[in-house]
Amino acid sequence: MNNLTTQTEIKNTVVELIRADITEQNVDAIVNAANAHLAGGGGVDGAIHRRGGTSIMQETREKYPNGCPTGSAVATKAGNLPAKYVFHAVGPRWNNGTNGEPEKLHSAYKTCLELAVKHQCKSIAFPSISTGVYGYPIDQAAKIAIQTVIDFLNNKETETKFTLQLVRFCLFSENDLNVYADILQSQTKQS
Ligand code: APR
Repeated sequence: MNNLTTQTEIKNTVVELIRADITEQNVDAIVNAANAHLAGGGGVDGAIHRRGGTSIMQETREKYPNGCPTGSAVATKAGNLPAKYVFHAVGPRWNNGTNGEPEKLHSAYKTCLELAVKHQCKSIAFPSISTGVYGYPIDQAAKIAIQTVIDFLNNKETETKFTLQLVRFCLFSENDLNVYADILQSQTKQS
C-alpha cells in the first residue's frame, strides 16, 4: 500500500496524495488527528503513539498539560518514528456541520502549516483529520483540507523563511484517496 496517485505543484511546493500509513512517512513532520485532551485514542492517534513510543505522550503531558483546543495544534518530537516532529491537531467532531466545524477544521490544518514553517520543515504529511471517529463527511472535509493548503501556499509571504517543499496527504482507504484526488484536481483547475 503506497500508491502515489496525484501530484501537483503550487508556487514551488509539491502537493501529493498517496495511500499510506502515516507512521511510516519519512518527512520532517507528521500530523496526528488528536483529541483536545491529547489523551491518545484509536485511529491515527493510536498508531502514532504505538509506533512512536511513550516519549511522545510524556512530552505532551509536560508541555501541554491543559491539552489543545479544537481547531488548533501543538508540536512534539516524534520518538521512534521516521519523522522529526508530530503536530497534534485537534479537528472538530461532526455535529450537523452547523457548529463551526468547517472553520475549526480549516484552522487545524492552517495551524499545522504554520507550525511546519516555524519549525523549518521541508516536508509534512497529513492524515484526513476528523473523518474517522469524529465522523466528518469525507468530501466536505477533503475540500477544506485541500483548499487550506492551496491558499496557504498561494499566500506565502517571505520566500526566505518558507521551507516547505512537500505537503503530502496520506489517505488510508482507496475511497478516501479517490475523493481527495477528485477535489485536488478540481480545486487546482480553478486556482
Ligand atoms: N495512517 C493514515 N491514516 C490513518 C491511519 C494511519 N495509520 N489510521 C487511521 N487513519 C485514517 C482513518 O481511516 C480516517 O480516515 O485517518 C482518518 C482519521 O481518523 P481518526 O484517526 O479516527 O481521526 P478523527 O476522525 O480526527 O478522530 C479523532 O479519534 O483516535 C481518536 O484520539 C483521537 O479522539 C480522537 C479522535
